Amino acid sequence: MYRLIRPLLFRLDAERAHTWSLRAARLLQHADQSLLAPLYGYEHERLRQTLWGLDWTNPVGLAAGADKNGVAMRYWHSIGLGHVEVGSVSAQPCSGNARPRAFRVPEDQALINRMGLNNDGANAVAERLQAYSDRNGIVGVNLAKTHDPDIMGEAARNDFCTSFRALAPHADYVTLNVSCPNTRSGKTFEAPGALDALLTDVLSVRSELDLTVPVLVKLSPPVSDRVVYDSALERVIRVAQAHGVDGYIATNTASDRRGMRASDEQLEAIGGGGLSGQPLTARSTQLVRYLYEATGGSVPIIGVGGIASAEDAFAKIRAGASLVQLYTGLVYHGPALVKSINQGLVRLLDAHDLPTIGDAVGTDTEQLSSSI
Ligand code: FNR
Repeated sequence: MYRLIRPLLFRLDAERAHTWSLRAARLLQHADQSLLAPLYGYEHERLRQTLWGLDWTNPVGLAAGADKNGVAMRYWHSIGLGHVEVGSVSAQPCSGNARPRAFRVPEDQALINRMGLNNDGANAVAERLQAYSDRNGIVGVNLAKTHDPDIMGEAARNDFCTSFRALAPHADYVTLNVSCPNTRSGKTFEAPGALDALLTDVLSVRSELDLTVPVLVKLSPPVSDRVVYDSALERVIRVAQAHGVDGYIATNTASDRRGMRASDEQLEAIGGGGLSGQPLTARSTQLVRYLYEATGGSVPIIGVGGIASAEDAFAKIRAGASLVQLYTGLVYHGPALVKSINQGLVRLLDAHDLPTIGDAVGTDTEQLSSSI
């Protein structure tokens, strides 16, 4: 069906197409669920996992950015996604950057966006999360600093803490987005010292609220798909591990345009923004592998970046990801991608003689015994 709708959607600019799709998703989630489940649903015992004490029906989830405000959470679960990551949400509502700010690059099966953290703000999203209590799957919340260059240092940490207080009580897990390439100050917290201070503050709010919600850190892609040793990254991982973060998400979008087929003129016309989709596939898998090896597989990793098939998802899982997420793949292939990945994963488990998806995690790594 998406094959019929896609040419119409692709005639619209990328953000407008997304807005319309989200509107449809919002309506469809109130339709009789027995309509969507036979089309998109797929369940298999071998795809189930328990991570952080939570039950995940399958490893495939929705990446942050696709439903920033949590308006269609029930829809995403009903098309077979095991988890939905809402956000990025910031303490204050934000309208984001000027339009146009999202672009398709079909020859690379990629998107470039400079949305600028547009979202309804922590309180509005918290209300939606609270209202979705009869959940059909896991809901994570991705937090970012309010897009305002005047909010820096301690005020920036307080901004994260304000969002955490509002949203964490309603979330199954919380992601700290310290790697947004689209705001001047979005990546400030990916520096080891700043991350250290941020984790100190956020994790003390978690204790104060007496919550056990897992806290994950979302990182930028590495500069290439061959991360051999990266001292800056090593310091970031060391800080995160010292604070006992519960996991990592690898990766966010890339600021550079490495490995793209599109012409320089085309890319120049688009301008700045974060690159997602196929050009990111190998790079994000490589960071998953690096993280898995550096942490000795001690905490779960969510792999995201350029997944458009079961093989792509399986490569990330074998590199060390317990879970994977999609965004750009859904734009190019539609909602049926979720079922096809989950079905394909079961076939790949058979082909590799692995009983469950959990048994596949990290099977394509050096499995270093030394961990940070
Ligand atoms: C994103 N992504 C993103 N990530 C995040 O942590 N917070 C956000 O608000 C957004 N916003 C956003 C908007 C748009 C339009 C895109 C395409 C992406 C990044 C996303 O979650 C994911 O990390 C990357 O897109 C890589 O995955 P895909 O798209 O290649 O599957």
